[in-house]
Amino acid sequence: KENMITCTAPVNIAVIKYWGKRNEDLILPINSSLSVTLHQDQLKTTTTVATSRSFQEDRIWLNGKEEDISHPRLQSCLREIRRLARKRRNNAGPGFDATALSHKVHICSINNFPTAAGLASSAAGFACLVYTLARVFGVEGELSGIARQGSGSACRSMYGGFVQWIMGQQEDGKDSLAQQVEPESHWPELRILVLVASAERKPVGSTSGMQTSVQTSSLLKHRAESVVPGRMVEMTEAVRRKDFAAFAELTMKDSNQFHATCLDTYPPIFYLNNVSHRIISMVHRYNRHYGETRVAYTFDAGPNAVIFTLQQHIPEFVQMVQYFFPPEINGGQFIKGLSVDQAP
Ligand code: DP6
Repeated sequence: KENMITCTAPVNIAVIKYWGKRNEDLILPINSSLSVTLHQDQLKTTTTVATSRSFQEDRIWLNGKEEDISHPRLQSCLREIRRLARKRRNNAGPGFDATALSHKVHICSINNFPTAAGLASSAAGFACLVYTLARVFGVEGELSGIARQGSGSACRSMYGGFVQWIMGQQEDGKDSLAQQVEPESHWPELRILVLVASAERKPVGSTSGMQTSVQTSSLLKHRAESVVPGRMVEMTEAVRRKDFAAFAELTMKDSNQFHATCLDTYPPIFYLNNVSHRIISMVHRYNRHYGETRVAYTFDAGPNAVIFTLQQHIPEFVQMVQYFFPPEINGGQFIKGLSVDQAP
């Protein structure tokens, strides 16, 4: 018997950033984080998982190229899903189809956006892998704890809309899970633009970058202990009230503090480039011009800006970007206009 399932999962963009782990193997963070799940039309991962009795071993292809299946994070996800599937089989009795459990899997995953350009490709990738594997093995229920073990930020892509990753307190990480704060339908006017300042691979990956930050930055320690807890409460409230100015200011401040911790890391890590800095200045000038906060930026581990604004400001803002950045942004092509979306 053969079995094949294809799913897609969306990218998420953190507005309160995750940076730093307290446990590297289980991927447990030093602070909670909050993100917005993007629309799947333009930024998504598509994963197909097939099982067959004729497969000799588990294998994986990423964007058409075979990768090493023995990667520890891949192994964690496979092991955890199979563990849940066995548990389900043992509890469910004869009605449950457990054929897949005796088979090896072939996994094929494709991103429709540049990998490792700081566009959270690992988040959509591992969310999609875990979700698709779960479907193949007939596993249901809370899966964000497994996606987390693939890549921290991936746990947030298991839900749509506005999502928090609660850091948890337990040593075993059982309480370090993602949770929806508000569904995608909550704030339909909210829009997201990605300004691609460079599609090159980032020089320092997030995994090793945050490791160095935890070891060397006292600002990061201060941020995790004394800044983020309050911001999580404020951000949840801003989203609930659909208070754009509050949401935007917290988003920009948190992005700036994250990049400040990167500078405070020793040796320092630079994710922003000249175009990023000019985008930051442009957004502040735009907001100042209107005397209100109409646009926000946030940057992950790369130079590309993610812009949040409301539908009514899009045409004017886009015109301004095209005026100030004719050749740089997206190689003269265009900005991606996105909205908030649902889960995989
Ligand atoms: C800057 O989830 O990619 O995007 O857990 O080591 O896989 P690992 O790291 P990853 O880190 C994402 C960092 C960030 C902020 C965020 O998404 O919250």
